[in-house]
Amino acid sequence: MRGALLHAVGDDRLDIRDDFTLAPMGPADVRVKIRATGVCHSDLSVINGVLPMPLPIIPGHEGSGEVVEVGDHVTTVKPGDHVIISWTPACDSCPNCLAGQPFLCMTYMMDSFVNARFRYDGETPAFGMAGCGTWAEEIVVPWQGAIKVDPEVPFEAAALIGCGVTTGVGAVLNTARVRPGSTVAVVGCGGVGLSVVQGARLSGATTILAIDPLESKHELALKVGATHAVTPGQVADAVRTLTGGQGFDHGFEAVGTSAATMTAWRATRRGGDVIVVGAGATDDMVPLSAFNLLFEGKNILSSLYGGADVRRDFPLFAELYKAGRLDLESMISARIGLSDLNDAVAALRGGEVLRQVVVLD
Ligand SMILES: NC(=O)c1ccc[n+]([C@@H]2O[C@H](COP(=O)([O-])OP(=O)(O)OC[C@H]3O[C@@H](n4cnc5c(N)ncnc54)[C@H](O)[C@@H]3O)[C@@H](O)[C@H]2O)c1
Ligand SMILES: [Zn+2]
Ligand SMILES: [Zn+2]
Repeated sequence: MRGALLHAVGDDRLDIRDDFTLAPMGPADVRVKIRATGVCHSDLSVINGVLPMPLPIIPGHEGSGEVVEVGDHVTTVKPGDHVIISWTPACDSCPNCLAGQPFLCMTYMMDSFVNARFRYDGETPAFGMAGCGTWAEEIVVPWQGAIKVDPEVPFEAAALIGCGVTTGVGAVLNTARVRPGSTVAVVGCGGVGLSVVQGARLSGATTILAIDPLESKHELALKVGATHAVTPGQVADAVRTLTGGQGFDHGFEAVGTSAATMTAWRATRRGGDVIVVGAGATDDMVPLSAFNLLFEGKNILSSLYGGADVRRDFPLFAELYKAGRLDLESMISARIGLSDLNDAVAALRGGEVLRQVVVLD
């Protein structure tokens, strides 16, 4: 089967080949034919080494598809079911899962660093990003990683729910718990940031400021729910005019850099919440003094995978989409094929594109 392989961190091109096979399935595994998969910034971060992963690796973690085979112990899905892939399958028995934080479960994530689920060129093993590797025609995942979805939801929308939408909307609903009438600033207007904007709209926030250096992103931010849009250089002015100089109740960072975290920090009011959603590098330090950390009274909240329980939240976001409350169509900037992935990664680096979705038959 076909797929896109990264041999080494920093390679400028993925090796798009058609000789992949899958490792044998276990009794608790599900084999999924991928029908749509997005190009998320985290994929780029695997390619450029910001997110460490085992190599060689098939990127891709934002995907949806159709179940083609299930192991003997699987009862949650059957062949023909439509599913959304979860990049953090929850084991339900580790301390994080038992504490009600399945988005922090490391059980299958750790396993994905040692068990290569693909083969190519005969028997050479290849890993799948975060245990997924949705930039391939088929994948095998533990049953907890394939969540059934209403077949009325198109595969492309379902794929976006698999990462960007759950990350962004979940950050608002689960992590920040934004209340009606709140003021929200969102730093970064990619697929994740615009999902934060949509979550803020759904939560009844009355002022939603979208921040991105690319003015081309502002129009879309306004379309999906932002009430105002500015560049990072205009944030101080916006804080003055929109919040009387107080700052926003919630400042979301959806870029993945310390600079963006500081933009969110400065935009947030005393006592407000700074929510870190972007995935930054291990050596990118956030310059906050111990003094400011206490005396500004701001809370820094981490939001991994939208603080979601995907078993509850994937179906919830699918319902919101069906009800016309989540605009996923506007988030898709291009529909492409697997062979276009090198161009898609280059375009994502440029920043002008939103979600490019690979559509597979
Ligand atoms: N928390 C999670 O679980 C999770 C899940 C998925 C993605 N992510 C991360 O979220 C981040 C965003 O992902 P995406 O797919 O939306 O990325 P993207 O590349 O589509 O969008 C990033 C946007 O940020 C803008 N930007 C760059 N520098 C900026 C700055 N200094 N201030 C304001 N805006 C700036 C860019 O112009 C672009 O529009 C990435 O770091 C990604 O790895 C985190
Ligand atoms: Zn992602
Ligand atoms: Zn667990």
